[in-house]
Amino acid sequence: MNQPNAPLPADVLLRAQSLSVRFGGLLAVNDVSFDVRRGEVFTLIGPNGAGKTTVFNLISRIYAPTSGSIAYAGPAGTVTLTEQPPHRVAGLGIARTFQNIELFEHASVLHNLLIGRHTRRETGLWADMLFTPRARAAEIRAREKAEAVIDFLELQHYRDTLIAGLPYGVRKVVELARALCTEPQLLLLDEPSSGLNVEETDDMAFWIQDIRDELGITVLMVEHDMSLVSRVSDRVLAMNQGQVLATGTPHEVQTHPGVVEAYLGTIDDVSSLRRPEGSAVGVRA
Ligand SMILES: Nc1ncnc2c1ncn2[C@@H]1O[C@H](COP(=O)(O)OP(=O)(O)OP(=O)(O)O)[C@@H](O)[C@H]1O
Ligand SMILES: [Mg+2]
Repeated sequence: MNQPNAPLPADVLLRAQSLSVRFGGLLAVNDVSFDVRRGEVFTLIGPNGAGKTTVFNLISRIYAPTSGSIAYAGPAGTVTLTEQPPHRVAGLGIARTFQNIELFEHASVLHNLLIGRHTRRETGLWADMLFTPRARAAEIRAREKAEAVIDFLELQHYRDTLIAGLPYGVRKVVELARALCTEPQLLLLDEPSSGLNVEETDDMAFWIQDIRDELGITVLMVEHDMSLVSRVSDRVLAMNQGQVLATGTPHEVQTHPGVVEAYLGTIDDVSSLRRPEGSAVGVRA
């Protein structure tokens, strides 16, 4: 199944090639190609139903493409991601957050981070059960990592609080923390600002920039809030009805005539479409 792969260019972490996905009669993703470069924030935008989440789900192996493939520069060389079993994705250094937060409500922040870390187990079940020196060392590393991430995202105050007792905005940061605990090289963020107010969205923009600039993690995100998109993205890909409309800098894409048309048809600057505070719906056609 795993063919030898031609290595990707050194600056490319992930390359999607002619991806298509058909759901019955609907071509949800239609011949989509793009590169995610190492160390950048690359953002998918597009109106409702454009196919953004479907692209995301192809990368995290929730869906298989009808045609096309994804090459990924994994820790042991370039692999065809679309041939990997879903459970291998975390081990390849890919982590994601979900639009609907998925945390253990009745566990503390710290425990949620430790559970998240288990997706990249370094020891086998028997080693864990027998608490061998290797398992013990892995446990210590996991705790050190969790504490470092708590410090990095300034969650110290909430470290021992149960998720159920936390405001929504803090939960979003905890989800980010849990993904970081797996030490990804590629972080997929699914609408990181959804449900956040303006101030929380501002904080989220800082965290995303810090994750790229200080941790050197490449970020691929789907986002509707155009002010957040412009602020943090190095490059943007706009989709509509499954197809790529434009790829470029945030400014290039926002002013692209096809993108403007896809959003509303009449406006001349999609940045004016900032989502109303607290709304779960952003720029939608
Ligand atoms: N599992 C599925 N089965 C059938 N159709 C699907 C499935 N998943 C997505 N679709 C359809 O594929 C199209 C693209 O959906 P997708 O969720 O990727 O859009 P999106 O760009 O993420 O939109 P939104 O901004 O609303 O989240 C939509 O028409 C959607 O209804
Ligand atoms: Mg979506």
